[in-house]
Amino acid sequence: MPIEQTLSMIKPDGVARGVIGDVIGRFEKHGLKIRAIKMLHLSLEQARAFYAVHKERPFFDSLTTFMSSGPIVAMILEGENAIQVNRDLMGATDYRKAAPGTIRADFAREIEANIVHGSDAPDTAKVEIAFFFNALEQVC
Ligand code: CMP
Repeated sequence: MPIEQTLSMIKPDGVARGVIGDVIGRFEKHGLKIRAIKMLHLSLEQARAFYAVHKERPFFDSLTTFMSSGPIVAMILEGENAIQVNRDLMGATDYRKAAPGTIRADFAREIEANIVHGSDAPDTAKVEIAFFFNALEQVC
């Protein structure tokens, strides 16, 4: 299995509901190492830039308004097969379809406010990591 890095975000609903520690604990318990971490409050402009790939979707305005509504936690996670491991821990985007025991099944109540985001492929992971972190902010 390849060692990969992936970008994880705990969204404003996850921060507001006080599940940062629980989410990070799940990552660590499943072998994902935190290589960088920061809390920040995205502007609407920054949220629109991060989710630009979804700009034609009907939920784009609502999603980016939500994502800029409060602080988030951004992390670089590293480990064997990290992209898929993280996606398995998150569960399906729609919490109603997420497998029991996943982060979204346990905590999400809406498809949009679904607690966490994770990169979906190596190319997107690279772009998303560079969106939040420069080289000096990453621990080797
Ligand atoms: P995320 O993994 O961050 O990637 C895109 C986000 O768009 C997704 O999680 C949800 O927050 C949101 N999203 C996806 N589909 C919908 C939808 N049908 N309605 C509203 N928001 C959505």
